Amino acid sequence: MGRYEEIYKKSIDNPEEFWAEAAEDIDWFKKWDKVLDDSRAPFYRWFTGGELNTCYNALDRHVQAGRGGQVALIYDSPVTKKIQKITYEQMLQHVSVFAGALKRAGIEKGDRVVLYMPMVPEAVIAMLACARLGAIHSVVFGGFAPNELAVRIDDAKPKIVISASGAIEVTRLIYYKPMLERALSLSKHKPDRCVILQRSEVSAVLDSSVDIEWNDFIDGAAPAPCTPVQATDPLYILYTSGTTGIPKGVMRDNGGHAVALRWSLENIYDTHPGEVFWAASDVGWVVGHSYIVYAPLLTGCTTVLYEGKSVGTPDPGAFWRVISQHEVKTLFTAPTAFRAIKREDPEGSHVKKYDLSRFKYLFLAGERTDPDTYHWAHNLLKVPVIDHWWQTETGWPITANCLGIEPMPVKPGSSTKPVPGYDVRILNTEGKELERNREGLVVIKLPLPPGTLPTLWNADQRYERAYLKLLPGYYLTSDGGYMDSEGYVYIMGRVDDVINVAGHRLSTGEMEEIIARHPDVAECAVIGAHDSLKGQLPVGLVVLKSNVNRDEEEIRQELVKMIREELGPIACFKKACIVARLPKTRSGKILRGTMRRIADGAEVVIPATIDDPATLSEIEEALKKIGYARRDSEFFAGCSTTDMGKS
Ligand code: COA
Ligand code: AMP
Repeated sequence: MGRYEEIYKKSIDNPEEFWAEAAEDIDWFKKWDKVLDDSRAPFYRWFTGGELNTCYNALDRHVQAGRGGQVALIYDSPVTKKIQKITYEQMLQHVSVFAGALKRAGIEKGDRVVLYMPMVPEAVIAMLACARLGAIHSVVFGGFAPNELAVRIDDAKPKIVISASGAIEVTRLIYYKPMLERALSLSKHKPDRCVILQRSEVSAVLDSSVDIEWNDFIDGAAPAPCTPVQATDPLYILYTSGTTGIPKGVMRDNGGHAVALRWSLENIYDTHPGEVFWAASDVGWVVGHSYIVYAPLLTGCTTVLYEGKSVGTPDPGAFWRVISQHEVKTLFTAPTAFRAIKREDPEGSHVKKYDLSRFKYLFLAGERTDPDTYHWAHNLLKVPVIDHWWQTETGWPITANCLGIEPMPVKPGSSTKPVPGYDVRILNTEGKELERNREGLVVIKLPLPPGTLPTLWNADQRYERAYLKLLPGYYLTSDGGYMDSEGYVYIMGRVDDVINVAGHRLSTGEMEEIIARHPDVAECAVIGAHDSLKGQLPVGLVVLKSNVNRDEEEIRQELVKMIREELGPIACFKKACIVARLPKTRSGKILRGTMRRIADGAEVVIPATIDDPATLSEIEEALKKIGYARRDSEFFAGCSTTDMGKS
């Protein structure tokens, strides 16, 4: 048995022993009473009775151990032309003082704090300061519109919102303050105050009745010590798209999270204390939480906070410049970022300008790494290119090539094997396990390992309904896929209404809800169509009310504007076609999966239950007019073939 097999087997056969050993790498104020608490199954909890503080583990203990002078965070911002290095000691000072200011403002253990921040060090400082006090942070990605922020504020009910005057998107200024104001005018819940970081590049007008500038907020604050919290107490809530307009508040605890992330950095990413890890993502996404902030700092690494893109800031050599300048060992990003580089610099000529000798691994996630991107990146960089699969809910990888345990041969198109702790199975909708190479629902046998979501914020029932009910005893990932004869897992796409646009998870159901509010719309469907850069893009198919006699282009533009204003620019909703009717089953279900296949130019099997097959040709014609449904499409066979979800 190889090393991976041995470790994996132990994690599944004897999870308590396995995770108790891993937990030795975390400093506890009080050891746990029970490693795995199944007294409320299927709500499992890890390390019950244990007490710790996540911020202490990310900062204080490293300073105490002599790492104070090591750089904890490198802020690299090509959009502001700034590079700032913050040592562990400095980070501890900043975080303690900000925590002191929060405490002075009334924040206590268990209180919620919402962050709506660009990629600046203050975002990380604020997250860790919350953790220091045992307060629960909820970071909302800046590309979401005010309405989305309002929904999250109403659910999390924060005492304080922390934001900034704005962000810089390549060269464009994005003003956050007016968006925050709009969100607060929409939300029922009103925070006590808003702390606003004024950036020199974008200025905001503050309202002294509710706003306070960051520097004024911390002025004179006494550094706060770490508050011990229960291992099972929440560390953060991160909202993610579900199948409806109400996002799911994924809850993360303190103990299991610290143990799993600390373990993952060395065992999956083969990155060790003192080395430089760079997750080119955003703190507003789970990748940012786990691999910009928590895992690297819990491990004593140097993390890179990059405020830029893979192209345009200033050129497609941006990633190589950062890797070389900061001696990055491991880069983690989404395949789309690489496709963008490939599109602008297909020969990879920019690589030659930089010394990448310290660079060892490229990890990709957020969407499947298509074989083209895999080969391009591998040939260019000559380092292992590792596709690994995970979700906001799990917080760390479910399947990966665990380079720190035992590197395995890469099979392009597969995210390799289940990570220790995850008992991954392929089932059909009746719960029967499928033989190897047969595609089905990818599920994880309970209990999920530490660090994964124990529940949804204030929504135990929704958690059960969404993830556990369909197949009792298993966590439903909502991804379809298969396992080959060697146990390699292939993730083929979501089986629900969630799509991935440039590595960002979005709900087509939510877009449909917004479009349906347009006064001229009778009904609609939004599908995720293949896009060679962003992986998928949303496409709306809209039926107008019979009495509507307006210019169709005008209506289309209104729909694009509605999604941009209500969901955000990040939805990238730019294409919609007006159709006479939607294809449906005889029982009235819209055949979204079939339309998606038509859009992608893939083989379509006409469903036996279809009401009127002629609607499919009408849809094909309409999609062709906006550039889809081409049979010669470069869509690669095998992706998004699942049609098991809502049809
Ligand atoms: N605040 C406000 N607006 C934002 C924003 C933010 N924080 N982030 C993105 N947006 C806007 C963009 O400006 C753009 O607006 P536009 O339609 O007016 O041009 C829109 O949202 C879409 O943004 P994006 O998807 O980033 O598209 P892009 O064309 O600017 O960049 C890529 C394309 C591929 C370079 C970029 O999507 C990328 O690097 N993606 C990697 C994603 C990633 O890291 N995912 C995390 C998983 S690892
Ligand atoms: P998010 O919660 O935003 O991280 O999105 C999670 C979803 O992204 C998963 O359910 C998958 O559909 C998709 N995803 C993430 N990583 C991969 C991958 N390596 N391969 C295929 N799909 C992926």
